[in-house]
Amino acid sequence: MIKKCLFPVAGYGTRFLPATKAMPKEILPIVNKPLVQYGVEEASEAGISEFGFVTGRGKRAIEDHFDISYELEHQIAGSGKEDLLTSIRDLINNNTFAFTRQNEMKGLGHAILTGRNLIGDSPFAVILADDFCVAEDGDDGVLAQMVKLYKQFRCSIVAIEEVPEDQTHKYGVIKGEAMKDGLYRITDMVEKPAPEDAPSNLAIIGRYILTPDIFEILERTPAGKNGEVQITDALLEQARTGCVLAYQFRGRRFDCGSIDGFVEATNHVYEHIYKAGKK
Ligand code: UTP
Repeated sequence: MIKKCLFPVAGYGTRFLPATKAMPKEILPIVNKPLVQYGVEEASEAGISEFGFVTGRGKRAIEDHFDISYELEHQIAGSGKEDLLTSIRDLINNNTFAFTRQNEMKGLGHAILTGRNLIGDSPFAVILADDFCVAEDGDDGVLAQMVKLYKQFRCSIVAIEEVPEDQTHKYGVIKGEAMKDGLYRITDMVEKPAPEDAPSNLAIIGRYILTPDIFEILERTPAGKNGEVQITDALLEQARTGCVLAYQFRGRRFDCGSIDGFVEATNHVYEHIYKAGKK
């Protein structure tokens, strides 16, 4: 039912300079796998098989990562290293990958609108690869949890988590009516509020399921906070005229757009996934 996932990956990743001068932030590895591959695997586990990327200048490495590298494969054929390519080969063989470019960085809302041609007229998922999510042992991933909810409610859904009050200025923050444990119907949303203006401490993180009417709303959404077209503004219109749910997911999120979060994620994956031989 949700078959497509959009990855807006056009941002400059300035917080990681100089690492991101000639390399996309989304290709930075958590241990031995690029951030963006974890995102694609999470979506794939949620039943998604068509991937669209909104890229920008200097992001060619993402396209190359989701394509076959014949020279490399030839070089390591028959050696013990072939297994290291299994996870990415499986993704390439079982899914489709399409790319379009955002020519100007006009914000996340604009990036999602730019991906319209890759999505069409069906509900779709959005993953911000720099929000790296890890499921609890044996549990569904965050996007799989959201897809299940979508089947029940058939409206846009954003993933949320509680953040400390002094961090609200980094996120879209919601106000909502509790429906059941961890599920809210959104009544208001503010983009990057100062703590005194924040309607709660429930912050939107980089997982969305969006119904396709979001594109028409985005077309008429003016630039908002920081002069960027904000997905939060478009979602607020959807919430006021229809319904948008906010879901407090199970699992753990690392903010890999920041150095601290990236290092925490690296330590976590090394200890709990890589050394444990889980993937
Ligand atoms: P960020 O706010 O993290 O920006 O964007 P950034 O450029 O990636 O990183 P910094 O702040 O300079 O270090 C959130 C997400 O939205 C995408 C980014 O690629 C990232 O996944 N984005 C943002 C776009 O694709 N286009 C935009 O115009 C803005």
